[in-house]
Amino acid sequence: DMGGHDTYMHKEISEQPDAVDRVLRGRIDDRFSTVHLGGLNLDAREARTIRRIKILGCGTSYHAGLIGAGLIEELARIPADAEPASEFRYRNPVVDPDTLYIAVSQSGETYDVLAAVQELKRKGARVLGVVNVVGSAIARETDGGVYVHAGPEVCVVSTKCFTNTVTAFALLALHLGRIRDLSVADGKRVIEGLRRLPGQIQEILKQEDEIKKLAKRYADAKSMMFIGRVRGYPVALEASLKLKEISYIHAEAYPASELKHGPLALIEPSLPTVAIIPDDDLLEKNRAALEEIKARSGQILAVAHQEQEKADHTIVVPKNEPELDSILMGIPLQIFAYHTALALGRDIDKPRNLAKSVTVE
Ligand code: F6R
Repeated sequence: DMGGHDTYMHKEISEQPDAVDRVLRGRIDDRFSTVHLGGLNLDAREARTIRRIKILGCGTSYHAGLIGAGLIEELARIPADAEPASEFRYRNPVVDPDTLYIAVSQSGETYDVLAAVQELKRKGARVLGVVNVVGSAIARETDGGVYVHAGPEVCVVSTKCFTNTVTAFALLALHLGRIRDLSVADGKRVIEGLRRLPGQIQEILKQEDEIKKLAKRYADAKSMMFIGRVRGYPVALEASLKLKEISYIHAEAYPASELKHGPLALIEPSLPTVAIIPDDDLLEKNRAALEEIKARSGQILAVAHQEQEKADHTIVVPKNEPELDSILMGIPLQIFAYHTALALGRDIDKPRNLAKSVTVE
């Protein structure tokens, strides 16, 4: 049942305010400015002994894991990174007893992720899951974890589950942070930010008509470049994946800082750039990258907190706390990918060559 939408993807994009509300519900503790995560199976004493966090997932879940690692480093100050699960399992990874491993999966059935979990368990590691489907294989094999509560996702490409997974990571990061060194004031600030998310997502959804017009303008591009820095880079990766998957337009994502180390050679009028530019301490650096692109007559679509003078078009996104900005900045680009694919007449819910859950190697 598409509930009045033409595609599941559109329905799932539109459901995000409610979905995010669900991942937050019942978990926030205002008294201690923290978060309770019932199924984590990690007590405070154990949480204090974690020296590193390694996040594993595939595709969109890997991108959510990259944002998750950033959130954990920012809020809990635990060194964290994310890696594609399939790469991890085939490189005979060094499994360290002081590292907490986190497997991320919408379906909970992705074979590469499951096999990575099994390899880790065999080597005695502690593995948690950040999973959407309750009772799925990965949920069962992990020692505990956080359910993402995005609800069923039918469209092959992931949208609401990505947003909810990143929000679940924000909860986990806040929880770990408050056990360690995050102050009550910062905990409170992030909690207030989390509570603003559903309303702000609603505001972004209201811009659909304008985003649709932009999508039509860029739909005949042969290729697109996506750039961002630090918090914006995983958003660029995910936005570029979404565009590729459903529109079949070639897209690349780069850290804006890497442009001058190579990809700038590609910039010309026929290669538009989508630039993710939050209003954070890297704003000026990002603006400098836009100037570099303009100097080569590249077209620019910015996703930013304020109109960008150097850009040809800007999608203005509401501002939250800096740590949570990446959650919001991905959403207009889901809508952008959707309308690009629609303009090109693609089969949006079932893109060619792809399956919803990849249960084979
Ligand atoms: C992207 C997409 C895929 C999945 C990936 C992992 O839109 O749907 O990249 O994210 O196959 O799937 P899960 O999260 O089910 O493990």
